[in-house]
Amino acid sequence: MSSARPTTTNAGIRVASDDHSLTAGPNGPVLLQDHYLIEKNAQFNRERVPERVVHAKGGGAFGFFEVTEDVSQFTRAAVFQPGTRTDTLVRYSSVAGELGSPDTWRDPRGTAMKFYTSEGNYDLVGNNTPVFFIRDAIKFPDFIRSQKRRADNHLRDHDMQWDFWSRCPESAHQVTWLMGDRGIPRTWRNMNMYGSHTYSWINGAGEKFWVKYHFKTDQGHDFLTQEEASRLAGEDADHHIRDLWTAIKSGEHPSWTLHVQVMPFEDAADYRFNPFDLTKVWPHGDYPLIEVGRFVLNRNPDNYFAQIEQAAFEPSNMVPGVGASPDKMLQGRLFSYPDAHRYRIGTNYTDLPVNQPIAPVNSYSKDGAMRFSIGSDPVYVPNSYDGPRADPAYGNDDSAAGIEHEVIRSAYRLHSEDDDFGQPGAMVRNVFNDAERARFVDNVAGHLSGGVSKPVLERALDYWRSVDKDTGDKIAAKVQG
Ligand code: NDP
Ligand code: HEM
Repeated sequence: MSSARPTTTNAGIRVASDDHSLTAGPNGPVLLQDHYLIEKNAQFNRERVPERVVHAKGGGAFGFFEVTEDVSQFTRAAVFQPGTRTDTLVRYSSVAGELGSPDTWRDPRGTAMKFYTSEGNYDLVGNNTPVFFIRDAIKFPDFIRSQKRRADNHLRDHDMQWDFWSRCPESAHQVTWLMGDRGIPRTWRNMNMYGSHTYSWINGAGEKFWVKYHFKTDQGHDFLTQEEASRLAGEDADHHIRDLWTAIKSGEHPSWTLHVQVMPFEDAADYRFNPFDLTKVWPHGDYPLIEVGRFVLNRNPDNYFAQIEQAAFEPSNMVPGVGASPDKMLQGRLFSYPDAHRYRIGTNYTDLPVNQPIAPVNSYSKDGAMRFSIGSDPVYVPNSYDGPRADPAYGNDDSAAGIEHEVIRSAYRLHSEDDDFGQPGAMVRNVFNDAERARFVDNVAGHLSGGVSKPVLERALDYWRSVDKDTGDKIAAKVQG
């Protein structure tokens, strides 16, 4: 008898063999009474939960966030008060690929952060880019379908991608970013994380501000060229997961410095761009970066499935002192994530250890499949039996949204300098250097050369000439030979 821990059934009962089923004689049929064999295989058949409909491939780690500066004049959130240290979880992901897809495909990277704060879980579910492809949630399913697979042959299709992008000029800023060097980070450690949306912050006096989050990598930016990325997709499809795991295991704990841009509440109405439009950044010159603190990763998961695959992030998890904004994408996301978790993981997903807050939970939700947190009476409100009571003081943070009150379907109200091509043009001309610009032209031309039909190609070339005439001409020359 070895000293190994004894194998048991899920009920903790010792089993007699890891190797042999219970049979009638050595060659005989297998007996139905071998309930351990049945449990083992039945459990196996149910091992998977559905993969995330987007951001399926990813990895993550635990760490902490520490506030090093004083931003209490802008927010009363406990997690942002000077000196506060909060346990965190982050999950990095690519967007369009499936659970086993290569980490190095060109794609934005998800940067989903969970802060286990004393006031409940705060989730900041962002990307490694400060902008996005669209500005209204109604287009999200269409956008994602154009990036995934065709209905007929189940292949990814550049024609579909460029057809959508070139018909949605608001995508130009994000596509410019994506085709630049940062479109394929060398590692997750070498990229920034952005909250991307505009959120609101509310201070102790009830004053409101608009805010954007920038977590800047302390490891420095680094990227993979298209050639390196394509090679790695074959040689080490899990390159990014492996890198993060190995770094943390060897004691190299990556960190990011959080900065915020803060816009006074009243500025929003007349700012030169619509400040809630997710396809735009706020120039640093207008709203400079204000340092807040340090985000460090120092612990790998013990069980990938339990702690990363079943992690559930939701932009609607906002703590007192943080609120939403009229950003139409953010508004759509507030509904979408808890709905996805109920489907993907199950109605009681918040009972799982990785999703449990450290703050006490006193909700009136009850029962449902796989519930194991134990509630107590009373199970309804209002009641006469000292049940939990809501506090109207917390309503203030919800009301940041709604500068206009008409109920209509419309584009955002235009501000004086709103357009789709100005910021991507600035990026190509002023942010990229010559070498970056040359790689950018190669990346776009290479992508457009992969099976894009003539009418879509013509429209895509117009799109790039609108971003920057010279760059568009160079792309056209490469594609059309
Ligand atoms: P700034 O000089 O203030 O911003 C330039 C920013 O560009 C940098 O701070 C950096 O963002 C980012 N950047 C630098 N190199 C690259 C690259 N290769 N790929 C992607 N991003 C890069 O000028 P503006 O604020 O006037 O912005 C000019 C343009 O820069 C914008 O239109 C936008 O396209 C782009 N940009 C601006 C950001 C902002 O928050 N202001 C953020 C990202 C891009 P970071 O500091 O976050 O690393
Ligand atoms: C994942 C919806 C836009 C970042 C998801 C998931 C859904 C979703 C349904 C899967 C959730 C799950 O099963 O766990 C939407 C909708 C959007 C939108 C409807 C637009 C209206 C965005 C934007 C960002 C973003 C703009 C970043 C700024 C992420 C991230 C994940 C994710 C990081 C992965 C979370 C994780 O690691 O578990 N999104 N999304 N999404 N989304 Fe979005």
